Amino acid sequence: MKKVVVTGGAGFLGSHLVPRLQQEGYEVHVVDNLVAGTRDHVPVGATLHEIDIRDKHALADLFRQLGEIAGVFHLAALPRVQFSIDHVEEANDVNINGMLNVLLAARDARVGRVVYSASSSAYGDQETLPLHEGMLPNPLSPYALHKYVGEQYCKNFSLHYGLPTVSLRYFNLYGPNADPNGPYAQAIIKFIDQRQHGKPMTITGDGEQTRDVVHVRDVVRANLLALTAPSVGKGEVMNIGSGKAYSVNAVADMIGGEKVYIAPRVEPRHSLADITRAKQLLGWEPTITLEEGIAELKQLYHIA
Ligand SMILES: NC(=O)c1ccc[n+]([C@@H]2O[C@H](COP(=O)([O-])OP(=O)(O)OC[C@H]3O[C@@H](n4cnc5c(N)ncnc54)[C@H](O)[C@@H]3O)[C@@H](O)[C@H]2O)c1
Repeated sequence: MKKVVVTGGAGFLGSHLVPRLQQEGYEVHVVDNLVAGTRDHVPVGATLHEIDIRDKHALADLFRQLGEIAGVFHLAALPRVQFSIDHVEEANDVNINGMLNVLLAARDARVGRVVYSASSSAYGDQETLPLHEGMLPNPLSPYALHKYVGEQYCKNFSLHYGLPTVSLRYFNLYGPNADPNGPYAQAIIKFIDQRQHGKPMTITGDGEQTRDVVHVRDVVRANLLALTAPSVGKGEVMNIGSGKAYSVNAVADMIGGEKVYIAPRVEPRHSLADITRAKQLLGWEPTITLEEGIAELKQLYHIA
């Protein structure tokens, strides 16, 4: 059985990626310190290694013990914008130094390929839409900067050490298991949670800001393709979004229920992915419409 490592595999995306990799016949090893993830997200048959990616020696030891590793999916991060502003050193330690430790361990273990979870936050504010990979990144928070540096590190490891890498710049992920409680929780899961608790959906600002949201299972598919696609492996960066933008008001209307408007927050007004590159390099396109994704969530969370 081919082995793969998923760092941060006990988190939201990991809870979908790990079982899918098992279905594909991989032996899956999750590396997670459970700071945000939970043991319940790691399915039977996958091995959880409670390791902090800041612990370079523990990571290197694990990779050595595992022997031949077909791929590493690097998901582990402290992925909160405000947290990265309030705790800049800690966030840097995990998102940059931890990332470097993963790349070093992967290089030394001659891992087949590293698939890195990058972020569309690297774009920051841009003058035009849709956002495409040729634009000059403009990271507007330490978190966004860290995710961007991660991409550059991947590219450098491919260039200097021959480690095959690829970076997937996700837009806003949604789907089952997303955490509704964070201050920057994705609007869809927050609205679903509010509806489930009989509360009105809180919309920041006028609700006319738009977001490109992509279903977590489509993102899982992109990860699987990125592991095996012959056309990538040299640090290529590509957007993983839906290529469609919805206003927060439209999302709330799709879910249905009472809305209240609260103070706006500082955030880009619009986001929309150009997904041409992922189509060309991976043959990937999203398959789950927002209507389908919301209907599934309403059913799962018993919302009429
Ligand atoms: N969810 C999104 O909308 C989104 C958008 C763009 C990019 N991303 C990126 O995708 C990845 C996965 O996101 P997610 O939504 O599943 O986040 P998540 O917080 O649910 O999962 C991250 C996991 O990393 C683990 N982790 C954190 N610090 C660690 C450390 N020091 N050592 C070991 N494990 C550690 C956490 O316990 C958690 O299980 C992240 O890298 C994030 O930056 C997510």
